[in-house]
Amino acid sequence: SPSDPDLVERARAAKERLGDKVFVLGHHYQRDEVIQFADVTGDSFKLARDAAARPEAEYIVFCGVHFMAESADILTTDAQAVVLPDLAAGCSMADMATAEQVAECWDVLTEAGVADQVVPVSYMNSSADIKAFTGRHGGTICTSSNAKRALEWAFEQGEKILFLPDQHLGRNTAVRDMGMSLTDCVVYNPHKPNGGLTAEQLRDAKMILWRGHCSVHGRFSVESVEDVRARIPGVNVLVHPECKHEVVAAADYVGSTEYIIKALEAAPRGSKWAIGTELNLVRRLANRFADEDKEIVFLDKTVCFCSTMNRIDLPHLVWTLESLADGKLVNRIEVDSETEKYAKLALERMLALP
Ligand code: 13P
Ligand code: SF4
Repeated sequence: SPSDPDLVERARAAKERLGDKVFVLGHHYQRDEVIQFADVTGDSFKLARDAAARPEAEYIVFCGVHFMAESADILTTDAQAVVLPDLAAGCSMADMATAEQVAECWDVLTEAGVADQVVPVSYMNSSADIKAFTGRHGGTICTSSNAKRALEWAFEQGEKILFLPDQHLGRNTAVRDMGMSLTDCVVYNPHKPNGGLTAEQLRDAKMILWRGHCSVHGRFSVESVEDVRARIPGVNVLVHPECKHEVVAAADYVGSTEYIIKALEAAPRGSKWAIGTELNLVRRLANRFADEDKEIVFLDKTVCFCSTMNRIDLPHLVWTLESLADGKLVNRIEVDSETEKYAKLALERMLALP
């Protein structure tokens, strides 16, 4: 939908008043009305790097979700303030692993006698507490664009991986990219005693997958892939690795949001694509490539926007920028220094991956 011209003008004016003091980051899932004000857009890996590369900006306005703003705070200097335009922009997947649950899981692994062989690998989509746990136990963070390298690195450090919190990204990377079998993976359910696993299962497993998932990507189905293939002959199916394993197996290509954009940029004229990721991005790509004669459709019409990504809208961005321009620091995201120390260790291991 077209943005309110009055709000567009107010955002522009406030941003101009702030000048170099502000740097606006926009995740690819953000609304068009917000993306137009981003100084840089990217997937979660690119945005983490870009935030760290701006030490002169006093304010980093993060148009994305809470865990991304936390990561930006960890990677920026203490003098910089990271701001999330709506504090309710969380992530249901990140909420599926709490510090208490993960500490309990570590006790279960210790009890089973496997903890000393386990290296934690945590998806970027996790709280700073989980990242700190990961750093403390010698592990690394990964994103959907470097999960394979993170797993390779972790298997050089130990024999088993505890993958948090997205079981699908963990399983897809292990099976699709690393040649493991489905039986090498077990799922740890934090709501069951001992994660629902026996000590023997934990000893046999190579990948211990946390029982978390993305509520948006988890809704794409094999039927949606079959339907689109029947409807659009010759269609290329391209999905995000947060989709279920059977959906990824049925697709032609799999990758992060940045990968999806690059694939469509490189796609030949006349090609047809069905994309399984968040709707704001798919719509933007469909519009962008319409005049290049690339047909781009959303993989499943029943899947909707990521509701928390969508919380960042133009009114929240205007309020944020105007407050900052008036010298009022609002919605700051600040990770405490003890958590930051270990979370940073894990994030830096990711940034140093080959
Ligand atoms: P990427 O941008 O790294 O592909 O991650 C997708 C996502 O779900 C972010 O919340
Ligand atoms: Fe979280 Fe999924 Fe939304 Fe990404 S798309 S922010 S993983 S709920």
